[in-house]
Amino acid sequence: MSLPSPSYTSDKKSFAYDTVKIRWPKIIKGCIEDAQDYPQVIGDFEQLLKSFEADTKIAKFTQEEIKLNPDLLYYNENFVDCTWQNGPWLFLECYLYQVINNIFLKHQIIDFDVFNNLKQSTLVSSEFGITELCKKLSTFDFNLTDEVKYLYFKEFIDISLWGNSTDLSLLSGDVTLEDIKSIQGEEVRKQNEKNILVNDTNKVFDYLLTEDTKTEIDIILDNSGFELLSDIVLAIFLLETKAAERVNFHCKKIPWFVSDTLPKDFEELFKELSEFNNEYVDEFITNAKGLLRDGKLSIKVNKFWTLSNPFWDLPKFDIYNDLKNSKLLIFKGDLNYRKLTNDLWWDKTTPFDVAIQDLAKANLPIMTLRTCKADVVVGLAEGVDEKLREVSGEFWAASGKYAVISFFKP
Ligand code: F6P
Ligand code: MG
Repeated sequence: MSLPSPSYTSDKKSFAYDTVKIRWPKIIKGCIEDAQDYPQVIGDFEQLLKSFEADTKIAKFTQEEIKLNPDLLYYNENFVDCTWQNGPWLFLECYLYQVINNIFLKHQIIDFDVFNNLKQSTLVSSEFGITELCKKLSTFDFNLTDEVKYLYFKEFIDISLWGNSTDLSLLSGDVTLEDIKSIQGEEVRKQNEKNILVNDTNKVFDYLLTEDTKTEIDIILDNSGFELLSDIVLAIFLLETKAAERVNFHCKKIPWFVSDTLPKDFEELFKELSEFNNEYVDEFITNAKGLLRDGKLSIKVNKFWTLSNPFWDLPKFDIYNDLKNSKLLIFKGDLNYRKLTNDLWWDKTTPFDVAIQDLAKANLPIMTLRTCKADVVVGLAEGVDEKLREVSGEFWAASGKYAVISFFKP
């Protein structure tokens, strides 16, 4: 089967075009502002900005860089000879975050999250949504019939799904903090239901009820802050309703796509939340910390999530050993979806199991919770794309207004 082409940064019909022209320079300028304590890195960031403007060719990572970070070898293996403004979007964007990380490594600055300020300031603005959510969890009676359990499962899935639309990297575009805040309220979530274009929630629920040999669920996390909170809430629901005996959170190894979760962001989240001085929020923190201590919740890191490889390659990496017995893999967010489908221009009616290619042979049950913020979408019914183009314009799939909950059962 011949595959469709990937989204390219030079393609005016792709959301990549604006990303590279407008958002990447903004993100780098933000790095310059937020790294003021490390004046030695500023020159490198200015150089990077210039290379965007001059649209120079990107280079393979050098031996010195690989010595500092052996993960970069995989980038050289998959290297695409291209420029910033004319190359495959997925590869270039992953490569960019490794370049940013390298700048700090080169100057022996370890464990500095240049996006930390941005991550935190947005969490504070989510106070309303967070208090609402913690109160719901606190007053919850987990003794439920399957019928009622399904209704709540759907709700917690929805919360985690729309938690993904609080993507901080979108703040470099036209989205305001007010927009983000409004997405988190219960009312807004209900209205958004019709915007979930593929919704396999019931299939996942039925599967979880019948699969009783496997005990662990894995959440491949996306963003920190409100989204992470919504994912911890979902995990607690899965534990309490006995869908899983343990839930593993998979984090990023390096600062990634601005807002992605690093292991330390759990502590950051708890610290920030404790400043709300709200009894329900405090109860949530104590509960989550206890579950982490007891190993009912676990935090994992693996290089695979910060490579440029599509998830089609997952069975070739050591992470596969960790995941192959998982009851369910929940992939959060837009970038994870792009990697599942390799960011190709699939026809939007392509079945999900076709778009994940070799991953469909890996015997892994997969669920996506993704709000659409890029070009690729699959699994739609005939005519939906055409209709949405009329209603929301050519770039509907990058607007963040729509979502897909897809399920693949091997
Ligand atoms: O759409 C802009 C963008 O930065 C994409 O490049 C990327 O796929 C996405 O946002 C990140 O979103 P998420 O945090 O949901 O993966
Ligand atoms: Mg992200």
